[in-house]
Parts: sequence; C-alpha cells; structure tokens
Amino acid sequence: MHVGEQYHEFIQTSPRDQAVRDRFLKMALDLLPEGADVLDFGAGTGIDAKTYAAHGHLTFVYEPSAAMGEYLAQHCRDEIARETVIATAPPLTCKVQGVTANFAVLNHFEDHTSLFEDLSHVVHQGGFVLASMLNPYYLGDVRYGWWRANLLNLVRHGRYAISSESRIHRFAPRVVARAAAPYFRLERLSPRGLGLATDLYMFLLFRRV
Ligand SMILES: C[S@@+](CC[C@H](N)C(=O)[O-])C[C@H]1O[C@@H](n2cnc3c(N)ncnc32)[C@H](O)[C@@H]1O
Repeated sequence: MHVGEQYHEFIQTSPRDQAVRDRFLKMALDLLPEGADVLDFGAGTGIDAKTYAAHGHLTFVYEPSAAMGEYLAQHCRDEIARETVIATAPPLTCKVQGVTANFAVLNHFEDHTSLFEDLSHVVHQGGFVLASMLNPYYLGDVRYGWWRANLLNLVRHGRYAISSESRIHRFAPRVVARAAAPYFRLERLSPRGLGLATDLYMFLLFRRV
C-alpha cells in the first residue's frame, strides 16, 4: 500500500482517482457555507485540506499515519504556517460544519458506531459528514476471488473484510447508516441503482440531526 509521498504522487497522477476527487470536492464545497470550518478526517497527504483552505475554510486535519502526516506537513506548510490548516488528534475537540473522509477512510473501520458518536460532538446541528467509501457492489471486483467468496456475507450481513487487503472492510450503505443513527441521518447516496455496479466509490452524505 502506498503512503506518504508515494501515495501523493500515485493518486495525483491517476485520472480515474482525480475524477473521483473532483466530484467529491465539488460536493463538499457546495455543502459548506461560506467561511464554515471543516474537519478532514483521515486527511492523508493534505490534498483536500489544501483545497478547502484555498476556498476560505478553516480546515482541521486528523491523520493517524506518521508517513501521511509528515507529507501533509510539507504539502500544506504555508497553510499550517498561516493557521488555515490545523492538525488535530483524538479526542477531537474542534467544532465544525462539516467532516469529510475521502478515499476509503471509513473502510479502515470495522464498525462505525463509536466514530459517529465522537463526530456528533464535532459537527454542529444541521452540519454534515461526507464520506467516499469503497462500493461493495462494484462489478469490476467480480473478477477477484475475495469478492465472490464474500458475496453471501454481503447479502446476509451487508459487510465483509478482506484480510489480505490490510483488513479493509466493505459495507452496504444501510450498515453505515445504522451505525450513524441516532446522531446522523443518511441524506444522500450516490451513485444509486445501476451506477452502484459501475463505480468503485460511493459517496454517503450524513446530516447531523
Ligand atoms: C486512501 S487514504 C485517503 C487519504 C485522503 N483522505 C485522500 O483523500 O487522499 C486513507 C487514509 O485513511 C487513514 N486512516 C486509516 N485508519 C484511520 C482511522 N482509524 N482514523 C482516521 N483515518 C484513518 C489512513 O492513514 C489514510 O491516510
């Protein structure tokens, strides 16, 4: 798995990932009122954080990987110096309008119940959590043995984990929505219908209730 500078270079030069990032950023920026604060949760190397800050949003970042965090400090050094990007760590005490978790951050969790409870203290009422997660229904994965081996788990339990992939978990949207309640309500899922067969990533928008 790529980390730090390697991840940064890889993801920035992949047209497919770039297109996904552009869509995600547009959705996040459209959701954020002017000047609203945001927390980029699992911020990686700070690609999105730099964009939020450039659009006038005070941006808190949480990134548990040292290699990712070190590269973030380099990539966002000007924003960190100007205090428009601020590194934070659990327990998360910042108060923001929106939390974003781009590119499968939530797939690193086995269960999201305590995460959403923690985020309920971070997000203002009416605010949001926007996550892009690996789509368990993506037909491009059918060629892999692990996908076929877990199909029954997906149908029965709405979730499965792949040990060979650093314990990356995949979830049906309803399972994440259940974990987010009672603090957050799933407001939007995209794509829907047939799009779920063709897109590697799905976007889930949760509204703080
Ligand atoms: C594929 S990277 C995405 C990074 C960044 N969000 C982006 O858009 O490029 C997944 C990130 O999730 C982070 N991560 C893993 N476990 C996490 C956890 N428990 N809490 C927060 N972030 C986590 C990883 O360190 C990694 O930076």
